[in-house]
Amino acid sequence: MIKKCLFPAAGYGTRFLPATKATPKEMLPVLTKPLIQYGVEEALQANIKTMAIVTGRGKRAIEDHFDISYELEHQIKGTSKEPLLKEIRSLISQCTFSYTRQVEMKGLGHAILTGETLIGREPFAVILADDLCTHDEDKDNVLKQMIDIYDTYQCSVVAIEEIALSQSHKYGVIEGHLVDNTDNIYRVSDMVEKPDPKDAPSNMAIIGRYILTPDIFDILRDTKAGKGGEIQITDALKVQAKAGKVIAYKFDGKRFDCGSVDGFVEATNYFYNNTKDKG
Ligand code: UTP
Repeated sequence: MIKKCLFPAAGYGTRFLPATKATPKEMLPVLTKPLIQYGVEEALQANIKTMAIVTGRGKRAIEDHFDISYELEHQIKGTSKEPLLKEIRSLISQCTFSYTRQVEMKGLGHAILTGETLIGREPFAVILADDLCTHDEDKDNVLKQMIDIYDTYQCSVVAIEEIALSQSHKYGVIEGHLVDNTDNIYRVSDMVEKPDPKDAPSNMAIIGRYILTPDIFDILRDTKAGKGGEIQITDALKVQAKAGKVIAYKFDGKRFDCGSVDGFVEATNYFYNNTKDKG
């Protein structure tokens, strides 16, 4: 059973400067909700109630967001604005939030290793809140779909989507073969972080959803800085992949790269139009 979800949220978010100078990227809102709240809602809908967040300097707003603001509560109690706090109140009452700080931003792999103290020795989920995922209302969300895959295969699971090869330099890219009688589940044999298109082993890129087995922490401890001088989760997963212990899952749903301005605007338009359509 997957009981905890880790949110690496310590990155500088330089693509959104100057907005992210004093505001965490994860707190940028798509409509009225910050990115990280969408992530926490996705985890909760996948029956995870323990949220473990890796923060860094300048990220305090995340902690304040998942806490009660008594002054605000007092101010809007009984007014027409009160319903606007309904969703966040409900999250706060159903989940526990714990935090640890990444002191030096040495990459996503290092951020995940920093979260070990909050996770312990159990399989866990990872959500990168800047990858915002949606799904059809009558289907499970992406993380829940991945948990079901984990339940079957009992090894690490990465979410993948097909990309234009020209974009391969932005992603971890997998090499793998379809598992028997499936058209969306691959056993991964290799992976490369941000390859040039000519070196990409496929057009299947890892997006910001993972289920990881706890041995990943031991592997990360031994993982040297890779592409961009950062400790890469892809390099650690590659060790598991070589042992046949990584499944890649082409998920059912849609994902927006809200870490980029284009993806963020696309998500905003999509959610706005959806809200309007529902009246
Ligand atoms: P990104 O590659 O998007 O980096 O990180 P970034 O710093 O957030 O943004 P840019 O590229 O400067 O605009 C992917 C995820 O990994 C986390 C980020 O917070 C984001 O969720 N991360 C990255 C860390 O927590 N620590 C790090 O050292 C690096």
